[in-house]
Amino acid sequence: RRPVHRLFRCAGTVAADLKGEEQLPGSVEPDSQDKILKKRFSEVQKERREQAQRTVLINCPNKISEKKFIKYISQHGPINSHFFYESFGLHAVIEFCQKESVASLQDAVCTPNLGTETAIPFRSRFFNLKWTNPLNPGSEQPNVQCSNQLPPASKKLFQLLCRAESMDDQLNTLLKEFQITEENAKLRHLTCSLIEDIAAAYLPDCTVRPFGSSVNSFGKLGCDLDMFLDLDETGRLNPGKTSGHFQMEFQVKSVPSERIATQKILSVIGECLDHFGPGCVGVQKILNARCPLVRFSQQASGFQCDLTSNNRIALKSSELLYMYGTLDSRVRALVFSIRCWARAHSLTSSIPGAWITNFSLTMMVIFFLQRRSPPLLPTLDYLKTLADEGDQCVIEGHNCTFTSDLNRIKPSGNTETLELLLMEFFEYFGNFAFNKNSINIRQGREQNKPESSPLHIQNPFETSLNVSKNVNQSQLQKFVDLARESAWILQQEDKARPSSASHQPWGLAALLLPSVSHSKSLARKKRKKPASERIRNLLDSIKSSGKEQ
Ligand code: GTP
Ligand code: MG
Repeated sequence: RRPVHRLFRCAGTVAADLKGEEQLPGSVEPDSQDKILKKRFSEVQKERREQAQRTVLINCPNKISEKKFIKYISQHGPINSHFFYESFGLHAVIEFCQKESVASLQDAVCTPNLGTETAIPFRSRFFNLKWTNPLNPGSEQPNVQCSNQLPPASKKLFQLLCRAESMDDQLNTLLKEFQITEENAKLRHLTCSLIEDIAAAYLPDCTVRPFGSSVNSFGKLGCDLDMFLDLDETGRLNPGKTSGHFQMEFQVKSVPSERIATQKILSVIGECLDHFGPGCVGVQKILNARCPLVRFSQQASGFQCDLTSNNRIALKSSELLYMYGTLDSRVRALVFSIRCWARAHSLTSSIPGAWITNFSLTMMVIFFLQRRSPPLLPTLDYLKTLADEGDQCVIEGHNCTFTSDLNRIKPSGNTETLELLLMEFFEYFGNFAFNKNSINIRQGREQNKPESSPLHIQNPFETSLNVSKNVNQSQLQKFVDLARESAWILQQEDKARPSSASHQPWGLAALLLPSVSHSKSLARKKRKKPASERIRNLLDSIKSSGKEQ
């Protein structure tokens, strides 16, 4: 079988994020494609942010003619790109070429008269398009094409996987179906930009930045939108300008700690979102969590949002994951498949608890790829040696320095197929000495566990912390059992793979099905366990999720 990964071009966000210095046509040889220069994380984020500031969101009537609508909006300036999608009605995302067009549009828009209710007159970039004459809404046929913002249904996914030609093809198909699309990425950045407008009503120089899987190259369609309120730009931390003998500083209120300041700011922003934020619903202030946050849904974009404050280390870990995900196209394909596998077997959950998180799983895949021979990914310590002056970064006393230039990193000499890597991943972690070893992507090798948590994954920047401290022994055991079973299934399959015409789930599709032997053994275990133990496990899960909250 040909190693498909060498031919595979990553699509979606990362493809859009790759920089074609010499714009290469689509038909170039794969080898020369490898030479495409890759953009830095900060450059991608800056461009996306600037793009989002020139963009507006419009709720449209269903029967609309795209041509007429675009002509109408173009009165305010040339449009760079646009798309439609469905979420509680039809919406259009319009990206103007210039920021001034947004102001021109806002000047032409009125605040609605709501009859029995009263409108809060907040002038955002989220509008409603209405017919001037609702009884005669134009003569043209509606012809709007909607862009998809949701992951594929399981049935469609299984069909695609069963039809694939090889396991490598399956892993790449899964990636293509689940990854965040160009439009979805734009919508995520636009949502942050709209939230920033609201926060800026109080804190004019603040920035709302997305982090986590929305930007780290491992995001799935439908994943939550993590964002943080960055107040560093306000000059709060910069020394004031001196002139002669004098220096001026702002008169401010003070509070006893950074945590209390964060809680106060998030509390006010939470209120603003709740009272003024068009489309912001279900606002919850979770201010006593380890990392205080405001959680809400942005109905118009369909995202579940988590807003935190001063979370620069998390942004740095998103950058690090972006580097790893962009270095070699096999990384994302493998991470996506393993995340889907974990979700399919309820190893991960959207509810916080004693289970493994997607973030921990990604760290495990990165570590495994650092352990291959030759290594498929470099260690964080190696990335640190490639850093230049501009990359130096210390956050809250933690050294977070590593190169931001992907082009400095030599491509790996490892040519293993995705099929082999997936099987070896399950083998590796099915036999890992979790009881004594810790996973450490900084050094790329196992280390003695510094504490007794069942699963120890060293936080890459805050090195005394364990990113999987929440995981209990029974969840870890479930992971190990399923990894062993999956390795076994893949080994058996190799011996007797069904023909593609048989439509039998095979390869990755077989791994995503509920595991028969496991559910049987679980049922046996459940029967054997005394009720008191089951209740204790349940209480442990609730306790750890309570702590998170
Ligand atoms: P999804 O499950 O797709 O949302 O993945 P995610 O990577 O966005 O995870 P999540 O929303 O739980 O967390 C957002 C970001 O916060 C992660 O990408 C990490 O950068 C950071 N993060 C999450 N959990 C931890 C943790 O336990 N420790 C540390 N240091 N950072 C974490
Ligand atoms: Mg997330």
